Amino acid sequence: MFDFEYYAPTKVEFGKNSLATLPALLREQGAKKVLIHYGGGSAERSGLLDKVRAAVKEAGCEAAELGGVQPNPRLSLVKKGIELCQREGVDFLLAVGGGSVIDSAKAIGYALASGGEVWDFYERKRKPSGCTPVGVVLTLAAAGSEMSNSSVITKESEGGDIKRSCNCEYARPRFAIMDPTLTFTLPPYQTACGCTDILMHTMERYFTSGGNMQLTDALAEGLMRTVIANARVAMAKPDDYSARAEIMWSGSVSHNGLTGCGNGGGDWAVHDIEHELSGLYDVAHGAGLAAIWPSWARYVYKDCLGRFYNFAVHVMGVRPCGTREEVARDGISAFESFLKSIGMPTGLNALGVRPTDGEYKFMAERCAATGGGKKGSAKVLYAADIEAILRMAGDV
Ligand code: NZQ
Ligand code: ZN
Repeated sequence: MFDFEYYAPTKVEFGKNSLATLPALLREQGAKKVLIHYGGGSAERSGLLDKVRAAVKEAGCEAAELGGVQPNPRLSLVKKGIELCQREGVDFLLAVGGGSVIDSAKAIGYALASGGEVWDFYERKRKPSGCTPVGVVLTLAAAGSEMSNSSVITKESEGGDIKRSCNCEYARPRFAIMDPTLTFTLPPYQTACGCTDILMHTMERYFTSGGNMQLTDALAEGLMRTVIANARVAMAKPDDYSARAEIMWSGSVSHNGLTGCGNGGGDWAVHDIEHELSGLYDVAHGAGLAAIWPSWARYVYKDCLGRFYNFAVHVMGVRPCGTREEVARDGISAFESFLKSIGMPTGLNALGVRPTDGEYKFMAERCAATGGGKKGSAKVLYAADIEAILRMAGDV
């Protein structure tokens, strides 16, 4: 087991009616002026925003509002939020939504606390020196941003939009209100994208060249089995509370670091390749991950055979007959079938993306460059490897 730091300071209020805790949480944080930040309309339509507005008032706080956060949140709206918060004297950011809204709030928070050009943090030119406190009312179990240290923002650019992350401990939300009933209204596609992303956050931590991690592996395998089983239930019955609750808690645990303790940092190649893809083509993050993973897995599994074997047997229920390579390959196929069964694309064609030769090269080179020329842990990948994986995905 490698040395590690585990830091999960977010206070979680989980369950039906957990929104009732919002006034007390805001008072506990000493919030005076709150930015209510939200997306494109789902929170307004469900009536959630009105409840949030009332709770902010009950806490004795003033409020400003900024809606319109798009999936794959844009830098331009972040900048609008920064100006608004500076003008209004906002001291607390309340994200009401999924990963995109939370990440947009974190970006605003970096700029308010650290000053200067906010994109510098995403280009890793400098590090934030703080973040205005962020609280979350979660409406979508997926990105895990409600407990993560990460924010992912897309910068609009004429030569192709650029999607980059900034990981920094200041950004971990102070609290997260998680009421699984708020996710009943999710369209099936978003439920499936969310479950895929949750699985991938643990899979990126699981498929590494790291050594022995008995407890971490057991947690990771348990989480993956839980999400696969409950994704099937939630797809068939969107208002199944128990399934939604299991998925929601899995989403947070999958990306708060617990399923990677001792792994030496994880792999993250699939995520980094996907960020190039959704930067260029604006696809849903979870669907982009699904479209790449099977090709990535088939490209790297021989270099990480023990873990692919364990995944096949302990997570996908493959019978351990035949060679270790055969079992590992059966595990990959079983996971691919699961993705298809919940309506996820397992290649670029089904994702609706057909890159040109130049675009394959562009994405591969840009992805490798963000890692100093290479990516990955299960197998170290250079630009040529990444291009090969993308082309494999493009053939499916
Ligand atoms: O905008 P509205 O109308 O609210 O609709 C949203 C949006 O269209 C809808 N939605 C959310 N809650 C709903 C709902 N629809 C009905 N009922 C509800 N209860 O869902 C759509 C997608 O929302 P979004 O926030 O974009 O999804 P997600 O949570 O998957 O976030 C994706 C973003 O997070 C980033 C991704 O790259 C992507 O930009 N990630 C962030 C991470 C982090 N900060 O730690 C880690 C991840 O790996 C990921 O990269
Ligand atoms: Zn993700």
